Amino acid sequence: MGKSISGFSKLSKSEKIDWILKTHFSDRKNAKNILIQYWNTDEKLQQLHDEFIENTITNYHLPFGVAPNYLINEKLYTLPMAIEESSVIAAASKAAKFWLNRGGFKTKVISTIKVGQVHLIYHGNFETLKRYFNFIKPQLIKDTNSITKNMEQRGGGIIDIELKNKTKDLKDYYQLHATFETLDAMGANFINSCLEQFAKTFKTEAQKFELFSSEEKNIQIIMSILSNYVPECLVRAEVSCKVEDLNEDKSISPEEFATKFIQAVNIAEIEPYRAVTHNKGIMNGVDAVVLATGNDFRAVEAGVHAYASRHGKYSSLTHAKVDKGIFTFWIEIPLALGTVGGLTNLHPLVKLALEMLGNPNAKELMQIVAVAGLAQNFAALRSLTTTGIQQGHMKMHLMNILNQFNANDNEKATLVEYFKSNIATHNAVVEALENLRR
Ligand code: MEV
Repeated sequence: MGKSISGFSKLSKSEKIDWILKTHFSDRKNAKNILIQYWNTDEKLQQLHDEFIENTITNYHLPFGVAPNYLINEKLYTLPMAIEESSVIAAASKAAKFWLNRGGFKTKVISTIKVGQVHLIYHGNFETLKRYFNFIKPQLIKDTNSITKNMEQRGGGIIDIELKNKTKDLKDYYQLHATFETLDAMGANFINSCLEQFAKTFKTEAQKFELFSSEEKNIQIIMSILSNYVPECLVRAEVSCKVEDLNEDKSISPEEFATKFIQAVNIAEIEPYRAVTHNKGIMNGVDAVVLATGNDFRAVEAGVHAYASRHGKYSSLTHAKVDKGIFTFWIEIPLALGTVGGLTNLHPLVKLALEMLGNPNAKELMQIVAVAGLAQNFAALRSLTTTGIQQGHMKMHLMNILNQFNANDNEKATLVEYFKSNIATHNAVVEALENLRR
C-alpha cells in the first residue's frame, strides 16, 4: 500500500513534486524532467495555469489544430479544435470543403433556456405546500435581486420557478424547478447562486407560514444545483444539396451513396450499440471546439447523451432524408455554452480561439459547435459507407506509430510515401520500418 499524506494542498509546488517523486517513481530524475519539460518559460503564464486548479504540478498539452473553410450561414469560419485523436481534424477539414461548394451549413438556435433545481424533503400536505410556494414565490425572486441585477440589465435572469411534486418517485420529495436565461454566460455560477438563495428563503420563511404545522415547517433542503440536462437549450444545424451533387466519390454513384448514408443514420436511430459510436463521432467534433473555446465539455457530454436518450432509448443525434431529389442531413443538439466568464477571459489560447471565430456570442458559438458535430458525423459516415474507416484513420495514425518506434525524418518521409499506395495497419507499418532499417 502506498503512503497517505495530509496537508498536501498546503505544500509548495516543488514540495508537492518532491513528495510525488519520492512516493511513486523509481527514476525520479526522469520523472522530474518530464514534469518540468511542460512548464511554460513565461513564469506569469505558468502561474496563471497553476492557479486554474489545485495541486498543479505541470501542464497537460493537447494539440490545438484548425479546420478552415466552414461556411456557416454564408459566413466563413476557421474552427479551432483541441483534440488528440489523429484523424478528427483531417475529417473536419474534408467535410468543410465538401459542403463549401454545396451551400455550406445552415443553423438555427431553437431555444436557450437553462434549468436549476432545489431538491427538498417536506413531510406534510401538498396543498399547503402549494399555497406556501405561491405565497413565497415573489419573495424568492426578490431575494435574488443583488445576484440577478446585472444579468437582468442585459436582458437575462430568472424566467420562472415551479414547485414540482415528485413524491410518486421518492417519498416526501419536492423540487423548486427554476428556468433561466443566462445570455452569453454558461451560467453555472449565476444559476447556483440564485438556487442557494431560493433554498435559504424557502426554508427560513417556512418557519413563519401560519398554515404549516410544526412538522411541515421543518422543510429539509437536500441540495441546490443547476442541471446539465438542457433539452431547451437547443440548436439545429443542417446541410442539403441535390442528390446528384453528392458526386465526389468515383467508386459510388450519388444515389447509392445517399441510400447507404441514410441507412447508416437509420441504423443509429434504432440500434443503441451503433448509436453510441455514431454519437461518439459527433462528439469528436463537438468536444474539440468546446475545449478549444474554454467550455465545460463534461457538462456538454452529460447533457447531450441524456438528450439522445430522451425517448427512453439511446438514439442518433443526427437524421437524414431524401425528399424530391434533395438530400438533407441535420443535427439537433443541446449545448449550454458561454463566451464570457469562466476560462474564456483567462486562458490566452481560449481568447485566441474565440477571436479566430470572430468573438462569437453564446448563440453563435452554439451554432458553430453544432456544425462541428454534424460535419464530423458526415465525414465518418461517408468513410464508413464507402472506403471503410481504417483507410483515412490509419493514414493519420501512421505518424503516431512511426513516432512510437522513433522513426527519423527520412524514414517518416519514405514510409508516408509508401503508405499512400499501400494499406497501413499497425503490423504493416512496423514491418515496413524494419525492412527499411535492414
Ligand atoms: C472514431 O473516433 C469515431 C467513429 O467511430 C465514429 C463512427 O463510427 O461514426 C469513426
